[in-house]
Amino acid sequence: NGRITISDLLQAKRDGRAIAAVSCYDYTTARQVSQTGAEMIIVGDSAAQLMFGFDSTLPATMDIMVALTAAVRRGAPNVYLVADMPFLSYQVAVGEAIRNAGRFLVEAAAQMVKIEVSGAHLDTIRAVSDAGIAVMAHIGIRPQRISTVGRLRAEGTTAEIAMQLIDLADQMVRAGAGALLIEGAASEVSQIITERTEVPVISCGSGAACDGQVLVAPDILGLTEGKLPKFSKAYDDLGPRSVESFRRYADEVKTRRFPDDEHSYHMKPGELQRLGA
Ligand code: KIV
Ligand code: NA
Repeated sequence: NGRITISDLLQAKRDGRAIAAVSCYDYTTARQVSQTGAEMIIVGDSAAQLMFGFDSTLPATMDIMVALTAAVRRGAPNVYLVADMPFLSYQVAVGEAIRNAGRFLVEAAAQMVKIEVSGAHLDTIRAVSDAGIAVMAHIGIRPQRISTVGRLRAEGTTAEIAMQLIDLADQMVRAGAGALLIEGAASEVSQIITERTEVPVISCGSGAACDGQVLVAPDILGLTEGKLPKFSKAYDDLGPRSVESFRRYADEVKTRRFPDDEHSYHMKPGELQRLGA
């Protein structure tokens, strides 16, 4: 069938077909996602938390994100692949943003980069896009702002903030954003934004009216511990099931039931006698 491109996503939007996106970080999971109808994988910097155990997304680095994105691409050659630009990879200077964004295309075969934006990043979005790198503007809740906001809360629930979000979305698209991601915003606001723009709008907890939805793979599989955010949904309970598998394995080792003969190699007939042991 070939690799999904931005043209396919634009066509999906025009046809009113919802885009399914998954945030995942590794080859094995990407292979599984690629066997489904999901069109898009976003390699999110939430990997800092879910793969590396940090308490925020801030410690994700370019080298980590490039390595994870390349691994996901090897597992899912045909999905539309979006790479998350980590904290400090685009804030310091526009030139650095272009160079870092380009690494994802060159070293990991990503098709688009995602940047958490405010109005302060319009020049960055324009420059990256002008350099020939498709960019997704991430608005609404921006987890990389945790240091300044203290706690992440739903966005756009008042008319004032809603207006700012709608205006920001417009500005981003005019600056060259090829897609939008809205995180944790009121559904009504996301609907307005989705209807007024030509580019695909992906929702992360921002309601049903967007052109597509994204959830993180560990949530979908039920691997994340503790209560999920209101907008997320587990489609399995692999966490407890994995623990049970590891427990049975450990028990079998301790009771010497594993490995049994079926899982052991043996010398060729007669060779043990020749060894004289
Ligand atoms: O880091 C992440 O997983 C994200 C999702 C919203 C895609 O940014
Ligand atoms: Na992210």
